[in-house]
Amino acid sequence: MIESMPVEPSPGAGLRIEGLSRRLGQRTLLAELNLEVGPGECLALLGPSGCGKTTTLRLLAGLDAASAGRILLDGSDITQQSAGERRVAMVFQSYALYPHLSVADNLALGLRIRGMPAKEREGRIAAVLELLQLTELRLRRPAQLSGGQRQRVALARALLRQPRLVLLDEPMSNLDAQLREELRPELRRLLCGGEQPVVYVTHDQQEAMGMADRIAVLRDGALQQVGSARELYARPANRFVAAFLGRPAINLLPATGPRQLGLRPEHLQPVAQGGLAARLLRREWWGNQQLLWLESAQGDLRMLVAADQELPPALQLGWRPEHELWFDSHSGERLPGP
Ligand SMILES: Nc1ncnc2c1ncn2[C@@H]1O[C@H](COP(=O)(O)OP(=O)(O)O)[C@@H](O)[C@H]1O
Ligand SMILES: [Mg+2]
Repeated sequence: MIESMPVEPSPGAGLRIEGLSRRLGQRTLLAELNLEVGPGECLALLGPSGCGKTTTLRLLAGLDAASAGRILLDGSDITQQSAGERRVAMVFQSYALYPHLSVADNLALGLRIRGMPAKEREGRIAAVLELLQLTELRLRRPAQLSGGQRQRVALARALLRQPRLVLLDEPMSNLDAQLREELRPELRRLLCGGEQPVVYVTHDQQEAMGMADRIAVLRDGALQQVGSARELYARPANRFVAAFLGRPAINLLPATGPRQLGLRPEHLQPVAQGGLAARLLRREWWGNQQLLWLESAQGDLRMLVAADQELPPALQLGWRPEHELWFDSHSGERLPGP
């Protein structure tokens, strides 16, 4: 997780989203979204497939029209501006590079269409190629590049426009897990901490935690919570956020009354006596940790412990009271205590 300094934008600087909604017929794809992203800040928009992430980015890019609300960029209202007027860069999950053109020609195309003089064009392309360490690869065609390199070309193309706002829609979803992990710090270095706000869409909580200064969790078109990864993890606004962040997922003990108790797998520990009686069902050894599947009168539980910890087949489970997360069993809202 990245621990960055809080961003304190000058008044009006950055992106401000006010009551942004998109409805299609009877369906609400996005419901009154309010968010602020400071200059240089990277905000992750996180949520399951179909929750409205791409819908939000398309509204910000000007590709779709809002049903209500406003979008302000550096203090000016851009809600009615066309996509071309906004100077917003959007990188999609499919890079859509032209297969028959070299890297350099892929980059030049957009600028050529806009009628930029050759000299300026070449200067700008050379600078972006250098920034993204693509200079050596500039004559290759997309098929001659690795997935990570292609992703860098797509980014280069977006950055060429000197955007005022950068939008990324699951830009690494075509890459394998290891490469995604490697590219995270690189992407952060390239995109964040500059002038422009960055909105980074992902359904992968780990990617959101690794990339973003703050995370906004979306569900069914409705914002659930915004905050640092630490805040969301330790003080989730509701059961959905609690379950979406953290792997293995939080244990939810069945409610006897109107309250439900959430306990994260790493917060359970064996105790000598007086705990919740449990029986070991199964063990997953992960090298650095082990995940234990346990059976108890309160239902099945997951517990995460050190890889070398020995445990008997029958044990008692305890936890520290400050690690308890209580939820209203009906609404799912987090409650201050039991
Ligand atoms: N043009 C459209 N017409 C009708 N429904 C749409 C359209 N675009 C998206 N949707 C619906 O809106 C919801 C949100 O979609 P989307 O923003 O693409 O989700 P995400 O990017 O979070 O996976 C989905 O249920 C999707 O089926
Ligand atoms: Mg999407």
